[in-house]
Amino acid sequence: MINGHTIRVGLIGTGNIGKTHLIGIASLKEAGLLDVEIVALCDTNEDALNSAAELFEVDTLYEDYNDLVNDERVDVVYVCTPTNKHMDMVKAAARAKKQVFCEKPLAHSCPQARNLVAVTQDEGVNAAVGLVLRYDQFLLFAKKLLEEHDFGRPMLAHIRDDQRFPVDYAYYSKWRGEKLLAGGGTLIEHSIHDIDVLHWFFGDIESVYAIVSHFTGREVEDHASLMMKHKDGTISTLDSIWHWVERPNERSIEFFFEKGYIGVRLESGKRYLEYQLKGEEPVRIWQENADIALIEHLGLHSRNMSPEAAETITSVGTERFSALNFAFLSALQSDSEVSPNFMDAVAAHKIVDAAYESANKNRQVDLL
Ligand SMILES: NC(=O)c1ccc[n+]([C@@H]2O[C@H](COP(=O)([O-])OP(=O)(O)OC[C@H]3O[C@@H](n4cnc5c(N)ncnc54)[C@H](O)[C@@H]3O)[C@@H](O)[C@H]2O)c1
Repeated sequence: MINGHTIRVGLIGTGNIGKTHLIGIASLKEAGLLDVEIVALCDTNEDALNSAAELFEVDTLYEDYNDLVNDERVDVVYVCTPTNKHMDMVKAAARAKKQVFCEKPLAHSCPQARNLVAVTQDEGVNAAVGLVLRYDQFLLFAKKLLEEHDFGRPMLAHIRDDQRFPVDYAYYSKWRGEKLLAGGGTLIEHSIHDIDVLHWFFGDIESVYAIVSHFTGREVEDHASLMMKHKDGTISTLDSIWHWVERPNERSIEFFFEKGYIGVRLESGKRYLEYQLKGEEPVRIWQENADIALIEHLGLHSRNMSPEAAETITSVGTERFSALNFAFLSALQSDSEVSPNFMDAVAAHKIVDAAYESANKNRQVDLL
């Protein structure tokens, strides 16, 4: 384990999300929240590697990930490459006995994700996944509301998730348009986050019916609509779309219970939560209040944090990634459970696989 000394991070894939994690880790260190050092970086793209090296003042640079995972100074390996590379990189890191963080989707299928669970368990290493909505302040606030009030039995959960087509726009990442590299489109590449949220809030899913469309004729789908039944009787629906309209990406989440309602709007510059209990007025929660739930969740409420440190954890931008990195790296330092872990990813992959199967066969897929 890593307790007792500085956590030394090596990161593979210094592209969009790799840099986001590097910013998060560097700010946690600068704010005095973590004893951490970024000691090595790897990328096959020289420009991406050199720009990250300069920005984060890292001297040890590799083109071959095997060299990074076998670098003795590296305690923790972050895998931030396109999805088709995750399997080999995670296995190499685990076999070198390094703690692992891998971006979502973990792999292209549930069996592959299970294989990574087996390898990391056999090697006895911790394995966390980038299902970052678990550190969204509004969703943590929703969890807190459910603990503190009687909302009654959950009835219906709905998530509508839209994103401007990332192949053409947001990340300029051509690999997202290729099924062999990305594994699929808006469902696996983006809305695996939403499926994780539904599983996190309402538990195991026993059946899935899905329609998946390819409006553009690309290899990867640009639309998926899912109807799911949870073991506890809750019905979840998910509508996920990649489109070309010049609007901010938006996630709209609504939970209906027998005695209340919780709605969360994310990522549109209009981030807020609204809830209402039966017989009471609606209440709107803005970020400063939701931040309290995040700070408490991270166990930081009793620390006398500087405004800079609080901003590092909660500010809009890299916020959820800073919080995720803080939770992961401090769990390693205190020898406690990392969350979300590869088993959480397996649960989400199981639903993604079932949805693709349902769409292919045009029938409901039963899971339990
Ligand atoms: N958690 C989230 O919300 C979130 C957000 C965005 C991306 N992601 C995931 O992160 C991963 C990367 O996505 P991205 O947007 O950063 O992609 P990207 O294309 O911006 O970056 C990927 C980087 O990996 C490098 N790379 C490719 N092959 C390599 C190899 N063999 N060795 C070393 N480096 C290699 C590329 O040169 C590139 O710099 C994907 O799995 C994606 O789904 C997660």
